[in-house]
Amino acid sequence: MNKVLVSLLLTLGITGLAHAAGDATAGQGKVIVCGACHGADGNSAAPNFPKLAGQGERYLLKQLKDIKSGARPILEMTGMLDNLSDQDLADIAAYFASQQMSVGAADPNLVERGEALFRGGKLAEGMPSCTGCHSPDGAGLAAAGYPKLGGQHGAYVAKQLTDFREGNRTNDGDSMIMRGIAAKLSNKDIEALSSFIQGLH
Ligand code: HEC
Ligand code: HEC
Repeated sequence: MNKVLVSLLLTLGITGLAHAAGDATAGQGKVIVCGACHGADGNSAAPNFPKLAGQGERYLLKQLKDIKSGARPILEMTGMLDNLSDQDLADIAAYFASQQMSVGAADPNLVERGEALFRGGKLAEGMPSCTGCHSPDGAGLAAAGYPKLGGQHGAYVAKQLTDFREGNRTNDGDSMIMRGIAAKLSNKDIEALSSFIQGLH
């Protein structure tokens, strides 16, 4: 093995230890209150409540920390995470990540436009496709913290894209990745993308 690889492996091992690892079994006992909106296994019934089942662990943990700190304000969850420790949040993220996200259906009238945007972006306007980060089947890239989109409720996805565009959701980091992308999307683009994503798997 070459030296670079060895030191890389060492670094990964050390940072791995520095983070509290989530325990899915422990997490199951900490999500009772969440089930009312998100479903007991994280597959919510109402389309304005996001599905958490099968979502990437790293992404979930970041959102939980952002919601708790107020970096991502969610009225419906006000105060709900205040008494949870970092270990609790890690366990909750591990639990939902270990579940399987259900898939919805796309509106056949919107699929073509939605798929073209998802896979092709808007190159003329410098907007990249979604696949590079969220993967062609919408599974996301869990290790990088890029969220899974495939199967997510269309109404929720549409609200997020609109919130990014309007500056109501600003927790996508200093590079403003999603705010930059959503700025290029019209309401009709968002409608088509969200419908396509709901049926994607
Ligand atoms: C009263 C309903 C309600 C309850 C109870 C609730 N949530 Fe939520 N949660 C929401 C709503 C609504 C959103 C999305 C808000 C938005 O549009 O951005 C959300 C978003 C989230 C997200 C972000 C999902 C994503 O894809 O970015 C996570 C993670 C989350 N909730 C976890 C939890 C956990 C863990 C609990 C229990 C401790 C919980 N929620 C309890 C309503 C609720
Ligand atoms: C360069 C990488 C990148 C590209 C390209 C990209 N995204 Fe994202 N997306 C992200 C990251 C990173 C996040 C998570 C931001 C955060 O931490 O809150 C995200 C979050 C989202 C969310 C919120 C998910 C949730 O559960 O709340 C949606 C919806 C979304 N992206 C849709 C899209 C769509 C549609 C496209 C294509 C038009 C796209 N993204 C292109 C990186 C990207």
